[in-house]
Amino acid sequence: MSTTNVLEERLLQQLDQFRADGIYKRLTHITTPQAARVTMEGHGEVIILSSNNYLGLSDHPEVIAAGKRGLEEFGAGTASVRFICGTFTIHRELETACARLVGTEAALSFVSCWNANEALPATVLTADDLILSDQLNHASIIDGIRLAKSITKCQTGVYAHGDLADLDRKLAAASDRVVKMVVTDGVFSMEGSVADLPGLLEVCRRHGAVLWVDDSHGTGVLGRTGRGTHEHFDLVGQIDIITSTLGKALGGAAGGFVAGSAALCDYLTQRARPQLFTNALPATVAASAMRAIEVLEGEPERVAKLTENARYFRAQLQTLGFHPLPGDTPIIPVILGETAAAIRASELLLQEGVFVTGFGFPVVPQGEARVRCQLSAAHSREDLDEALEAFGRVGRQLGLI
Ligand SMILES: Cc1ncc(COP(=O)(O)O)c(C=O)c1O
Repeated sequence: MSTTNVLEERLLQQLDQFRADGIYKRLTHITTPQAARVTMEGHGEVIILSSNNYLGLSDHPEVIAAGKRGLEEFGAGTASVRFICGTFTIHRELETACARLVGTEAALSFVSCWNANEALPATVLTADDLILSDQLNHASIIDGIRLAKSITKCQTGVYAHGDLADLDRKLAAASDRVVKMVVTDGVFSMEGSVADLPGLLEVCRRHGAVLWVDDSHGTGVLGRTGRGTHEHFDLVGQIDIITSTLGKALGGAAGGFVAGSAALCDYLTQRARPQLFTNALPATVAASAMRAIEVLEGEPERVAKLTENARYFRAQLQTLGFHPLPGDTPIIPVILGETAAAIRASELLLQEGVFVTGFGFPVVPQGEARVRCQLSAAHSREDLDEALEAFGRVGRQLGLI
């Protein structure tokens, strides 16, 4: 058997195993822009309760028009790396807008927040340093730290989720480290919970540690004007480093950024491999994301609508007899118990015209399988009530309520 066939054979076997274990992912295809309701192949019109289109900007006419203008003005892209071929002025404008939004001195864009998270620790840390990560941080942070460890030989560690005492102990034990960095998600995407930034900041300050917050689910979502988790806690200007995505609330196309001091962004421009060896964001994406930021800044009422939608939906689910996790974010996980129950509920909800993803073990702990609802400012009260009626029917059918 040729080497290629051995690989092919193994992959096919593993795919069969995924199917047998009930963890094989089937992609659903939609034929209309991301919005409160979309057209899904094989299902017709469905209400989407599982996108990160928090502010409803993915199909906003001005965001689309800005993307088209970006394409016409700058063409498809730089056709190389920024420092070699030139950086479009739209990238500079976007980075100024990102820094203004999150309240830092500077920002540097990447083709995704995954790339930003991978770039940061591997570029700035050294063998003299330590990075400590919350146990429930996003996969891109985990992989970014793994890369940093293998490249720089920095020390790494994990502190128990949200456990300030554990973090405190681990920082105290690392007094020999030159730079100590702590990283947390602003909003934890599986739980919909918010990191205790005031507490984290206090512990970090006491140990002289740098605090890095990945606010991908907080940007455009939390705080009165949507500046993020730090605005929620009245801490704008106090977080050392923020990474975030342009692929969720801010238009939903792609892209991410690191925001912090001018020196940090300059250093990453000089040294970060995902800057130096890959193209910049396409101009159309940069232009539409920038317009999305301007729409957010001009219409903070979108954030208020999102908050209100989340509050209403959570309360109504409880009234129906479900057990959504409590919280202040538009991520509303409804705990259903066993994995099979979550997957079945998700399938039945889709048949009822509501698209909401089910997550089971090993993504979440055994017995805590869930469907995760994500609300948007684009949802009308009618959308929410229709979705709630579907939840009621499915919940009764499965004996969940
Ligand atoms: C917390 C967090 N960080 C980073 C990312 C990656 O963002 P992007 O899609 O821009 O790579 C995500 C996306 O799922 C996320 O939830």
